[in-house]
Amino acid sequence: MKQKILDILEQNRGKSISGSQIAKILNCSRTAIWKHINQLKHEGFDIQSTTNKGYCLNIFDDAFSESAIKKYLPSDFSGDILIYDVLESTNTTAKSIAENAKENTIIIAKQQIKGRGRYGRTFYSPSQSGIYLSLILKPNTEIKDASLITCMVAVSVVRALNKLYNIDAKIKWVNDIYINNKKVCGILTEANINIETSFFDYIIVGIGINIKPPLEGYEQSIKDIATSVCENTDIPVLKNQLIGEIVSDILNNLKSFKSCDFMKEYKQHSFIIGKKVDLVSQNKTETVTILDINNSGHLVFLNQDNQVKEAFSGEISIRNIQNL
Ligand code: BTN
Repeated sequence: MKQKILDILEQNRGKSISGSQIAKILNCSRTAIWKHINQLKHEGFDIQSTTNKGYCLNIFDDAFSESAIKKYLPSDFSGDILIYDVLESTNTTAKSIAENAKENTIIIAKQQIKGRGRYGRTFYSPSQSGIYLSLILKPNTEIKDASLITCMVAVSVVRALNKLYNIDAKIKWVNDIYINNKKVCGILTEANINIETSFFDYIIVGIGINIKPPLEGYEQSIKDIATSVCENTDIPVLKNQLIGEIVSDILNNLKSFKSCDFMKEYKQHSFIIGKKVDLVSQNKTETVTILDINNSGHLVFLNQDNQVKEAFSGEISIRNIQNL
């Protein structure tokens, strides 16, 4: 019932709709509507109640909401949207339900207490500060395409930031999004593999985006290297819209995944091609010159012996980045 009331308010966002009208649509009493509206307000929805006019969801309301996200998703979207106040990690929850979950299910947490990054690192995920979401995909994709999934998602994030806020975001191979040389988003892709078929059973795409600086400021360890979307645009940021935009783009890219069309944009936005950087791979660090990122999402580089090599995993450190 609460969800249905929110759907109606969302469809009428910015306009008042009376309690009796909502009660009529949902075939229940006005008192029941009033109780649910109070609960929604308590959950953080910006709903105005005015005598003789009714209830109105503020146009700038930005509480995480299934109804609001759905507005920006394709009309045939059939996954579930699960929103939690606090989780250890949306990726961990996604993994625990993935087998039986509907394809394209979205899991969102307002706060993560054990947000995970790559290589066992933590991803700082305070409340009221970011988008922490995991998407459960079940595409017909071979395991050799693992890096490409992350590349595709990175392109979707970059496109959304550009389309909605005019931000020119850059990509650091393979999974980090930067604005003005500071990290705004990290992507953690995890999967369950069917060894017999070499295909994925499911893929969990975890996306963490800093939306605004934490109330208590960034943690000391990231304070010089982190940024947020709001610090880089004057356009109001609506998290539900950003989520809808990114997920829609991912689902659209998946339709033509095999053509790797997104790799052209991935390379255009990559800020390491042609640069000398430190590559950390298999526990060793070497200074290499990045030549390309190929259509498998692998890094092509020149090592210190001037040999052309390829890496499909690893991490770039830009601390000592040099232009050539
Ligand atoms: C990285 O920067 O190394 C990747 C960070 C990925 C963070 C996201 S937030 C949502 C999802 N849940 C997690 O625990 N991690 C990912």
